[in-house]
Amino acid sequence: MTTQPLTIGIFDSGVGGLSVLHHIREALPAAHLIYVADSGHVPYGDKSAEYIAQRAECLTRFLLEQGADAIIIACNTATAAAAASLRAKFDVPIIGMEPAVKPAVAATRTGVVGVLATVGTLESARFAALLEKYAGNVEIVTQGCPGLVECIERGDLHSSVTWELVAKYTAPLLQKNADTLILGCTHYPFLAPLIREIAGPGITMIDTGAAVSRELKRRVEVELAHLTPVRDCAASEAFWTSGDATAAGRIISQLWHRAVIAQCLPSGNL
Ligand code: DGL
Repeated sequence: MTTQPLTIGIFDSGVGGLSVLHHIREALPAAHLIYVADSGHVPYGDKSAEYIAQRAECLTRFLLEQGADAIIIACNTATAAAAASLRAKFDVPIIGMEPAVKPAVAATRTGVVGVLATVGTLESARFAALLEKYAGNVEIVTQGCPGLVECIERGDLHSSVTWELVAKYTAPLLQKNADTLILGCTHYPFLAPLIREIAGPGITMIDTGAAVSRELKRRVEVELAHLTPVRDCAASEAFWTSGDATAAGRIISQLWHRAVIAQCLPSGNL
């Protein structure tokens, strides 16, 4: 029996992927989790797919060097831009995430679903294919949200600036009678309380964090079974950033609800 701890590498453009990390920790209580916030390059939402694919490859290489047995792309935008090329290049389980169109279509009672996501995600071929496959007769109203990721990166979850942006971006969806909102960017679950305050208690919000962690657990059990007898290993996390380590440590501590130190990525990965 191996004593090597199961190690999962997770990355996002910034701190949004922490909304997924919470679910991963619940699903795999004993695993070692390595999280990279690509804060030096955030936001991804307005960058080209080529740029994001390059960053995704660089961060994946770093995580594999750190011993990751599987990679979670905790970012809808990077999944759309880079999941296929990462899977072609690397021989470990690579799990991405995409807006939860299927469950939202099943949940709506008004027949209208709103999607809040980055412009990069909404304009991707992957998102178009998702709508083609699952939208059926449901009307899907999309809304790009420039500026919102930056609020969350500042740890600003409730100021008047954030409030106004959320109100501006949800208004067109609510006017169209959407009763179900897809949080199609991993940063947005941190704004769920504010979105509820603005959109009202009748709104259903759906994100993909729990589904992704279930899929990770399933694949770990099937493909990495030799690494799973780690029940006695202490659960641990390591946090890295391509941005300012002090600032990243502060925001990560706020959103992870525990005091953590973020380390700066080696210069070759910046
Ligand atoms: N958290 C990301 C996502 O899920 C990326 C946001 C951004 O950097 O624009 O799409």
